[in-house]
Amino acid sequence: MRISLHSQCFFSFIRILLIFCIFNCFTLHAYNQCLEDQRTVLLELKNDLIFDSTLSTKLVLWNQTRDCCSWEGVECDGTGHVINLQLNEEGILGGIHNLSTLSGLGYLEKLNLAYNDFGGVQIPEGILNLKHLTHLNLSYAPFGGQVPIEVSLMRRLVSLDLSSLVSYLKIENPNLKMLLQNLTGLRELYLDGVNISAQGSEWCQAISSSLPELRILSLKLCSLSGPLHYSLSKLHFLSVVQLDANDILSPVPNFFANFSYLTTLSLSGCGLNNSLSGSIPQSLFSLPSLKSLKLSDNQLSGRLYEFPTLQFSNIVVLDLRDNRLEGQIPESFFTLERLEYLDLSYNFFNGTVQLEKFQRLQNLGVLVLSNNNLSVDTSITNTSLSTFPQLSGLALASCKLHKFPDLINQHELKILDLSNNRITGEVPNWIWEIGNGKLFYLNLSLNLLVGLQKPYHIPSSLILLDVHSNQLHGELPPLPPHAEYMDYSHNNFEKSIPLNIGNPTTKLVYLSLANNSLSGAIPTSFCNATQLQVLDLSANKLSGTIPPCLVQNLKQLGVLKFGGNNISGNIPNTFCVNCSLEILDISHNYLEGSLPVSLANCKSLQVLNVRNNNIDDGFPCMLPSSLRILMLRSNRFHGQVRCSKSWTNLQIIDIASNNFTGYLYTKSFLGMMLEKDARLKSDYIQYNRGFVYGDDYYRATVKVTAKGVEMEFVKISTTFTVIDFSCNNFQGEIPDAIGDLSSLCVLNLSHNTFAGIIPKSLGNLKHLESLDLSTNQLRGEIPKELTRLTFLGALNLSNNQLIGPIPSGPQLQTFSTNSFQGNTGLCGFPLNISCRHTGENDNVPPPNSYRKDEAINWDYVSVALGYVIGLGSIFWLLFFCQSFKHKFNDQTEQVFEKVFNPKGKRRRHRGGVTRRC
Ligand SMILES: *[C@@H]1O[C@H](CO)[C@@H](O)[C@H](O)[C@H]1NC(C)=O
Ligand SMILES: *[C@@H]1O[C@H](CO)[C@@H](O)[C@H](O)[C@H]1NC(C)=O
Ligand SMILES: *[C@@H]1O[C@H](CO)[C@@H](O)[C@H](O)[C@H]1NC(C)=O
Ligand SMILES: *[C@@H]1O[C@H](CO)[C@@H](O)[C@H](O)[C@H]1NC(C)=O
Ligand SMILES: *[C@@H]1O[C@H](CO)[C@@H](O)[C@H](O)[C@H]1NC(C)=O
Ligand SMILES: *[C@@H]1O[C@H](CO)[C@@H](O)[C@H](O)[C@H]1NC(C)=O
Ligand SMILES: *[C@@H]1O[C@H](CO)[C@@H](O)[C@H](O)[C@H]1NC(C)=O
Repeated sequence: MRISLHSQCFFSFIRILLIFCIFNCFTLHAYNQCLEDQRTVLLELKNDLIFDSTLSTKLVLWNQTRDCCSWEGVECDGTGHVINLQLNEEGILGGIHNLSTLSGLGYLEKLNLAYNDFGGVQIPEGILNLKHLTHLNLSYAPFGGQVPIEVSLMRRLVSLDLSSLVSYLKIENPNLKMLLQNLTGLRELYLDGVNISAQGSEWCQAISSSLPELRILSLKLCSLSGPLHYSLSKLHFLSVVQLDANDILSPVPNFFANFSYLTTLSLSGCGLNNSLSGSIPQSLFSLPSLKSLKLSDNQLSGRLYEFPTLQFSNIVVLDLRDNRLEGQIPESFFTLERLEYLDLSYNFFNGTVQLEKFQRLQNLGVLVLSNNNLSVDTSITNTSLSTFPQLSGLALASCKLHKFPDLINQHELKILDLSNNRITGEVPNWIWEIGNGKLFYLNLSLNLLVGLQKPYHIPSSLILLDVHSNQLHGELPPLPPHAEYMDYSHNNFEKSIPLNIGNPTTKLVYLSLANNSLSGAIPTSFCNATQLQVLDLSANKLSGTIPPCLVQNLKQLGVLKFGGNNISGNIPNTFCVNCSLEILDISHNYLEGSLPVSLANCKSLQVLNVRNNNIDDGFPCMLPSSLRILMLRSNRFHGQVRCSKSWTNLQIIDIASNNFTGYLYTKSFLGMMLEKDARLKSDYIQYNRGFVYGDDYYRATVKVTAKGVEMEFVKISTTFTVIDFSCNNFQGEIPDAIGDLSSLCVLNLSHNTFAGIIPKSLGNLKHLESLDLSTNQLRGEIPKELTRLTFLGALNLSNNQLIGPIPSGPQLQTFSTNSFQGNTGLCGFPLNISCRHTGENDNVPPPNSYRKDEAINWDYVSVALGYVIGLGSIFWLLFFCQSFKHKFNDQTEQVFEKVFNPKGKRRRHRGGVTRRC
């Protein structure tokens, strides 16, 4: 009896403690001598558990000779029973299958196994038998499967934490209501990451009807759906509500404004949307207790109105990032005197705001106003004071700044983003001194800056420096020693790259010097920057050869680009065995020799662009099957294009303007057009191996020619497919099997010596937007099947030996005469030759003097037909219908529209086919 009395006292003690102290603030004290049986149980437990003794700080020290109540992580009550066991972060990896030994600790009230790795096993029976538990913490452990019904029998639970980043646990059957029904004393419920797929009314009612004592409710990323049911308003004692990353999809309910103990309301990424009257209840800002309000990444819209100014507002964190809020920033915000963190970026706030106004918020540590329609006036009248004594992060991107704000006295500033403004002149040299040598993030990109004021000293604290897209000139500034991400691209930097550039920079991950006027050689010291993942030296005036160590030493390198320089010599055959290159662009140089066979080591290579060089080689059959884009255009490649393997991911192949010969074998490229479901994973071809800074990916860009116009694609959709074999010496017939490349967007076979007829099967290429078969020796009539190509925007059949009427229908007549000229016997609109004698065609000699078996490898064709029957083109139509807009940046889109959409109306969605290229 004494014991249960004691534990009840302890219970109420915890309660009182919790009211005043939301977070865990107990320390462990040994009260008494350990009982023998308790010691035995603990030793058995230690024996059962498999743990990493280098990570363990408690278990590893448990020592027979000491009183077990004084062991690390163990606490006993007055009678020597273990009541508290804290084995969090002990590197436990297993040995927990049923943990029956734990049942021996019948008095246990608190159990913490957080931050171990149980590998997703069921919550073991041994734990479920502990009916006296008041605190159960199994967070980030992680356990998996259904949360067992036994949890509902732990009627004394005050705090339950089953959070996990990766969701292994689910609450389905028994459902949330069943589980919580009898846990009426629960005050803290953390189920972040547990899969509780449940409707708004269901989970809200389960919680509000069962847990009258609840103070902390944290259900982030639980697959919950909304709306937030009114029954939650019963829980007006709640102090913490965290429901981030669920599909709530409803307005923020008014009732939260009645929660007078609310300190944290966090609803980021919940799809919260627009009610008509402005979607954030103003009264929330006036809640006296509220400290943290996070509503980022939703669709909240409308204006924010002024709210009553409180004498003591406690708001410390206000995060409204990435919504659709508009109008002026309310003046009332400038009265939130305790504010430390304010993020209003990525909204539609407008008007002019004086930076000076924020001076009233003397505790402000982070201020983010970027990417609104704001004009920020940075003129400050009283400059003698340190304007923002606590400010450590300031982001004013796209705030229409014309000059640098005066930040000389910002001694705490570590992060500064002034990108995408209209700042002119030189970068003042005081900027490197702000933050007292602690500045680590500086983004000045997309301004009108012309130089760096001298003398300057780039601080060694700098980790990220982005000055891309300015007009900076002169010598390249040195890289700070701890640099990780450096972007000097799109400026006018000249002279040579410092020879020792790669030497002190052991942490450098990303370096772009592209689009400058740098000359001289590629320094071999780059080979010492072994962490480098992206190296972009494109579009400069670099000369000399490629240092062989570059592809040999840099094992992390994922993107290597130095297209558009004057590099000559051979490509070194030193690609290392664990080469991790994904994008290699060395186009537009003077490289010669062959493509190195060691490229086969680059098993993740997605893009290989060697166009416009002098490479003299056969077709590179050794390239890895990961390839998506292959550009060999304008070199001296020769021989047949025939490999025994196929590239199932290939989507753009441009081998134009070489000296390839022989027949066209489509087998290697068939897989490419058919097996495309794997591509749905990402929309663009991009490199995204974990950059810490910036939220953008490094995307592949490539130039593609269609209808004689070369376009740069800045984002390459994974559904954009091109075959360009033009300007070679291909011969024989165009194989029928080409019609099986059912997702093709651009086909160019012009300027070869293809003979025979135009295969009817081309009519199956339903997505084709550009077809060029000009300047060949094609004969016979234009198959009427081509009229099925509803998205065709560019057609060139000129300079062949085609005859007969141009098939009529909505399609072909929309093209100009240029598409058909230079043929011997074509007639009909749009040509100015009428087809007078309808019987004429009968007199035409048989179109084809080639023997079929000469032209086509029948084995390949039958394989191809097998594929087609298996999958069917409807499949592709359903899966790859994507809107055009998402694929190109604004400029290229315009070009593309002009080329592909000369007659807008033709673009109409017809016959169930949707445009996907
Ligand atoms: C649990 O562990 C005990 C002791 O190791 C063992 O005897 C028992 O069979 C186990 N029970 C289950 C269900 O695995
Ligand atoms: C659970 O334990 C972890 C690690 O000790 C701790 O960070 C977390 O706050 C605990 N949860 C609760 C609800 O106390
Ligand atoms: C909750 O308690 C009631 C009354 O003791 C009992 O009938 C019911 O089965 C319990 N529910 C659960 C899920 O344990
Ligand atoms: C807030 O509380 C008051 C007083 O208890 C009540 O009249 C009002 O309806 C509540 N508002 C909401 C939105 O629940
Ligand atoms: C700001 O936005 C509001 C509403 O969105 C609009 O009515 C107002 O004209 C805008 N003001 C300015 C200065 O653009
Ligand atoms: C690479 O670093 C090593 C060791 O610091 C140095 O000896 C060598 O000269 C460096 N290589 C180049 C090309 O700078
Ligand atoms: C192209 O190849 C053919 C046949 O192999 C050869 O006769 C011709 O000289 C080559 N042309 C060029 C420009 O290399």
